[in-house]
This record gives sequence, structure tokens and C-alpha cells, in this order.
Amino acid sequence: SLPVPSVQEMVRNDSKTIPERYIQKHEERPLDSQMCQVSFEIPIINFSLLANGDEEERGKLDFACKEWGFFQIIDHGVADEVLTKMKAAVEAFFALPLVEKQKYAMAANDLQGYGQGYVVSDQQKLDWNDLMFLMTLPNKYRNFKYWPTTIPGFKEAVEQYSEQIQKLTCEIFANLSILMGMERNGLEELHGEMKQGMRLNYYPTCFKPELVLGVSPHSDASSITLLLQDDDITALQIKHDGGWVPVKPIPNAIVVNMGDAMEGWSNGMYKSIEHRAVTNAMKPRISVATFVIPAEEAEIGPLEPVLQNSCSPKMYKNVKYVDYLRYTLGGKMDGKSSLQLLK
Ligand code: SIN
Ligand code: FE2
Repeated sequence: SLPVPSVQEMVRNDSKTIPERYIQKHEERPLDSQMCQVSFEIPIINFSLLANGDEEERGKLDFACKEWGFFQIIDHGVADEVLTKMKAAVEAFFALPLVEKQKYAMAANDLQGYGQGYVVSDQQKLDWNDLMFLMTLPNKYRNFKYWPTTIPGFKEAVEQYSEQIQKLTCEIFANLSILMGMERNGLEELHGEMKQGMRLNYYPTCFKPELVLGVSPHSDASSITLLLQDDDITALQIKHDGGWVPVKPIPNAIVVNMGDAMEGWSNGMYKSIEHRAVTNAMKPRISVATFVIPAEEAEIGPLEPVLQNSCSPKMYKNVKYVDYLRYTLGGKMDGKSSLQLLK
């Protein structure tokens, strides 16, 4: 398929026209009637309690992963400055003129770089979103040709944020490993070479937000995803009890969700929940989704200790992570399509 234009540029040139390819079918539109009561809130987990081995908090984590597949972490100890700098880096990148951004354009068959979500067909509805994808860990996967050098502090901001997110990731996995009947390092080992990639999102304003989606409904192909978002815009929505529940940002909290690999390992006990993002007419929004990605040869089928501790039958086959990625794509895989899977 052909590359699609930058939505940001499209809106800059003409903010009052929404091309047909972005207008969602009626049943996909973000209507208020489909929303659950706003009184629903996803669970909140106190990270410092978790890190201190608090069993009650670990129990809350277990509940959050089973009932919601999503939670917000507070008291995570990541300095405000690290979060602020990361958001500033994303804002600075998207504020560059288009010709500058295009210097970092995603090359054919690469998953890193500046562009739009992968387009599989000319009929497909398009998301109201521009993005930049960067592999951040292990260090050898960093491709610095995509890291904008003209933005002072960009590299430092991403590096510091990446390191802090990795610390949170390890503590979350340690707790989930215990909950799943393993040693603290169980999930880390199951990943093989654990990778980390970041999707920097830019959602331009939309003249008629009720017609488009920032990101269409999907579940993440990661093991877990950690999201940093604007404090003052509610845009992410998750599927819960058949409705869409908005995730109201808590200042400086990180939103965490279970991906498909965790659903497989946990035999469906922990849910990889469908989610989407809506747009608004007032203010552009940025977010940073950090994906934790198992090694290609890692197996993501139900784990023995999980099966032993429950009375449910085995619900998923044992597959290699790379085969799962191929399978979800119906046999086709290249760099960009796995990006699509990881959105
Ligand atoms: C977001 O809220 O910007 C993240 C959407 C996603 O998880 O794909
Ligand atoms: Fe996602």
C-alpha cells in the first residue's frame, strides 16, 4: 500500500475538511452512548508499596490484571523531571517543520522512524495520528539515525525515561511472577532477550472528533505496555463489560496494560484488553507507549505453574512469539506490520 500523509500537516493546511478515509463507520464512531458511566475508574496501584513487598497491594495488582487488564501506577518514584523532559522531547519533535521530520521517516521494511500506522489496504479507515517508533533496549537496537539530533536533550530524555520505565517493568514482572507461582525472575527469563520499543504519538486536533479515531480498537502484541500521557486530556478508552471506559489521567501516573503475550502465559487469567484513543477539537495530544517485547524465540503459551494452580483447562497453544506475530498477520510479516501489531 501507499504511504499515507501526515495528519498533522493535513490539519495544518485545512482544519475543516476530514477526508473520507478517516471517517469511521457509524458503529465504530466514538459516541457517548457507547460509554460506560464515567464513575468507572481503572484500578490504581501504589508502586512503592508493591516494591516493598506489600501483599495487599500485590493482591490489588492481581485483581487489576484479571478484571481490567489495565491499571495506573502512582508513587512510582520516577522523577517528575524525567516525565516532563520526555513529553517535551516528543512535543519538540512534532513541532519541527515537516521537511525536518521527514529526515527521520521510516524506511521501507523498517519499523523504526517517523510515519503513520501501517496501512494494509486502500479501503482501510485511517487513524488520526502521526507517530515516531524507536527501539530503546537493549542498547544495540537503538538506531540513532532516527533520533533527531537538532532537538537539544532529545537523546538524554529518551535514555533516562527508558531506563526508569525498565525499572518499573522489572518490579511489575517480579510481582506478576510471584502471583503466577514462579520465582521473582520468572517472567523476565521467559522473555529471553527482553526488548523495549517506544511509540511516540501525536494526535492533532480534529474539527469533528465524533467522526474519527486517534487509534482504532486493538490489543497490544507486547507482554506489557506502559503509557505516559498528557495530564489534562482524557482520550484513551478501554473495553470493559461491553462498553468503552475512559481512562482519566492522574497527573504523573503511568498507565500499564497487559499485552497478548501475558494473556498467553497466564492462560487468559490476565487479559489483553481492547482499547482505542479518541481525539478532540481543542488541543493536540501527545503520548508515549512503551512496549515490552519478548524475544522472537520465546514461547508464549500457558505456563505450567499457572495451569497447576487453577482448575481451568489450557486455553492457548504453545507458540513461539515470532510465530504468533506471523499468525496474527495471516502469514505476512515485515518490520512495519509488527509495528502495527504493537500499537
Ligand atoms: C494512547 O492513549 O495514546 C495510546 C493508544 C494505544 O494504546 O495504542
Ligand atoms: Fe495500544
